[in-house]
Amino acid sequence: MDNILLIGFMGVGKGTLARAMAAKTDIYAIDTDDLIESLTNMKIKKIFKKKGESYFRSLEQKTADWLATSVKNSIISTGGGFYKVKNIKDIGTVVYLQADFDWIYQRITKSKNAKKKIKKRPLFKSYEDAKKLYESRSKEYEKVADIIVNVQNKSTNEIIEEILAKTLQS
Ligand code: S3P
Repeated sequence: MDNILLIGFMGVGKGTLARAMAAKTDIYAIDTDDLIESLTNMKIKKIFKKKGESYFRSLEQKTADWLATSVKNSIISTGGGFYKVKNIKDIGTVVYLQADFDWIYQRITKSKNAKKKIKKRPLFKSYEDAKKLYESRSKEYEKVADIIVNVQNKSTNEIIEEILAKTLQS
């Protein structure tokens, strides 16, 4: 099996979905932000603060290089800006989890630990800033995706079935 790579905007549910898929399929799930945090022994927020965004992006590229050569048969959830790595297509089938900005915003701000979720995301500052970023990225996500799955108002199981059906076809 090709790796399944979940891309999409912050808060759309990439990590949650990857873990639910793992539990359902018995295929391991890994997350690029987790890989970066373990490689550096630093939280993403701290990397941004101490070293800046461009250093974080270089770590995403390093992670992409490792994934492309060393990881197979896995479900990989990614940070919202990971789609920019130059070899994304070498890692696996790219699945874009798509939803409207307001739906994503509600998902984050209405969640149980909303404060924590916002605090750990340095690029999710205000509604306006996050919306601007979303608008500048939407088309880019579409461009790199092999498969686009709209996740809005669907159950986790429905999304998983859709992803598996589409990735098995591709
Ligand atoms: C980022 C998204 C974050 C994390 C970092 C940068 C982005 O991941 O990688 O804060 O550029 O969109 P999530 O998409 O899991 O929030």
